[in-house]
Amino acid sequence: MAGLIPQSFIDDLLNRSDIVEVVGSRIQLKKAGKNYTARCPFHNEKTPSFSVSPDKQFYYCFGCGAGGNALGFVMDHDNLDFPQAVEDLARRAGMEVPREEGGRAQKRQPVDSPLYPLLDAAGEYYRQALKSHPTRKAAVEYLKGRGLSGVIARDFGLGFAPPGWDNLMKHLGGDALQQKAMIDAGLLIENADNGKRYDRFRDRVMFPIRDSRGRVIAFGGRVLGDDKPKYLNSPETPVFHKGQELYGLYEARKANRDLDEIMVVEGYMDVIALAQQGLRNAVATLGTATSEEHLKRLFRIVPHVLFCFDGDMAGRKAAWRALEATLPNLQDGRRARFLFLPDGEDPDSLVRAEGTDAFRARINQQAQPLADYFFQQLSEEADPRSLEGKAHLATLAAPLIEKIPGANLRTLMRQRLSELTGLNGQALQEMSQSSPRQESASQDEGYYFDTSEPEATYYEPHTPSEGTERSGKKEWKKGGKKDGKKDWKSGRKGDGAPRGPRTPATVEPPALTTLRTLLHHPELAQKVEDASHFAAEDDTYAQLLVALLGTLQKNPKLRTLQLIARWHGTDQGRLLRALAEKEWLISADNLEQQFFDTITTLAARQRERSLELLLRKARQGELSAEEKDQLRNLLNRSSSTATSTSTGA
Ligand code: UTP
Ligand code: MN
Repeated sequence: MAGLIPQSFIDDLLNRSDIVEVVGSRIQLKKAGKNYTARCPFHNEKTPSFSVSPDKQFYYCFGCGAGGNALGFVMDHDNLDFPQAVEDLARRAGMEVPREEGGRAQKRQPVDSPLYPLLDAAGEYYRQALKSHPTRKAAVEYLKGRGLSGVIARDFGLGFAPPGWDNLMKHLGGDALQQKAMIDAGLLIENADNGKRYDRFRDRVMFPIRDSRGRVIAFGGRVLGDDKPKYLNSPETPVFHKGQELYGLYEARKANRDLDEIMVVEGYMDVIALAQQGLRNAVATLGTATSEEHLKRLFRIVPHVLFCFDGDMAGRKAAWRALEATLPNLQDGRRARFLFLPDGEDPDSLVRAEGTDAFRARINQQAQPLADYFFQQLSEEADPRSLEGKAHLATLAAPLIEKIPGANLRTLMRQRLSELTGLNGQALQEMSQSSPRQESASQDEGYYFDTSEPEATYYEPHTPSEGTERSGKKEWKKGGKKDGKKDWKSGRKGDGAPRGPRTPATVEPPALTTLRTLLHHPELAQKVEDASHFAAEDDTYAQLLVALLGTLQKNPKLRTLQLIARWHGTDQGRLLRALAEKEWLISADNLEQQFFDTITTLAARQRERSLELLLRKARQGELSAEEKDQLRNLLNRSSSTATSTSTGA
């Protein structure tokens, strides 16, 4: 049985899941520098060698070689298969797993979710309350105090949630079913202990969040004073996905259908204050970092984006993340600029203090083109006045530049890097080979998963907390059985590293070739000794190779596509994908031979490392009985028996 999950969905899901949260909710993590560590849940150990990287959204165990993305972790840790793990993560993220390929189950989220009219009615109630509720005065004063006119309040649909626990609940009234829907829409909260239900938003100024069609999908509510939290937002719901919505986008487009540039700011009030001052092209992320998804959306509407951030540390950090999300979206003709504001100011305070013209002038004079900001920021991290700095700068910049899809801009940025570092194009090219360019996957791609499990495994009973519109859609779709290699449809066309037809044996690092062989012949993993025997590799390819081996040894039935899925969304995943597509240039015999040669080398290297370590310890007289055994074993072992059946390969 096979099913199809659209790749775009898995991308989305991984974007919205944080591996630190996913892993951290299952095992105790400890922060160590940029990463988190723990004792590995996949093998027995006393000292932690398990590491989670929030940057790479990837985990790896230096002890046993286990590794992968958030999905892979959920699969291995909770003992789930791929579709179940997708369901699990999706549930947390409040997402519905779409199922393609016709059949008995419904295709997608119904276009008109019953939540829309409910949210619309709530918006209407809040708006009316701002106009006529007996307690409205404080809210009106508050908005006036922030310089807002009635026109702006109307355009943005501002409202007021009066004080009290059940104003909205009473107003929208209804039966248990209606209340259930209100919970799903994020309007009501149900106390888990006593089942009591009450309004989520109380005594707050209300900002409706609208989708691109103008439908209310969520709310933000601000306290009138200094209470905490300052802003309360709707939770993730079937119609609201925080990480991809932009506050004010609908309003900006409505004000001007012919926008040229959109300004990205941090807060609701920034958007509104700018609009009040005649700058009606601002949008805000909803308390989340700017994502690639955000940028994709924006660049579908305008060719130019202007980021406006605080000048402080947090602002600089946010700006760099925005830059990273922008790079893969920079086709030629698109442009991004960065404006940093003076300390302590946000667009709201600044535009009100200095006025529209001065703010416009500030943008024109101070906004830095992306390329300038890019090199300036990196030069601060790696000072190009020294040779070491130049080298470091090149290492940092080259892989990022390769993410730019626009050939002209990419070339110009490479040139600039050359000028700064003195390194020629060839050298820089090689530097970026280790991190393959991100491909832009086409929307209709999907993963097929073969599994021998009975269909019933994928049927999950409808739980009452999941909302009425979800029932009957938990079924995993049936599809044609396909061969892994043929199924692999990808938008990538030989773009990015490793590239070009080469003879792998002579040009590629052996670990890379070996990685590819294993990817195409997962069954080879069973012929190799325990992956944990060479887990401590430090080169990327070898690490991934060991991780792949470990996964396969634990799950012998996994096939090429399932392997790729485990690393999907990470650099490693992109590498695996590129490898899966590459043509075979040498015969299978040779490949297997080479595979075992590399494994033998890895094992030998690991043995040397362990030996060295043990000998050093032995000289200090610290060996335990167990370590002595280990040492004896290592010394006795001939270096040519790394694999159990390598000769037969
Ligand atoms: P800020 O703390 O910078 O607030 O949060 P602000 O926009 O300047 O708010 P005002 O001017 O005091 O009214 C920026 C954004 O971060 C999110 C909101 O989206 C906010 O607009 N945020 C902030 C929350 O979601 N919750 C909070 O408690 C605070
Ligand atoms: Mn503010």
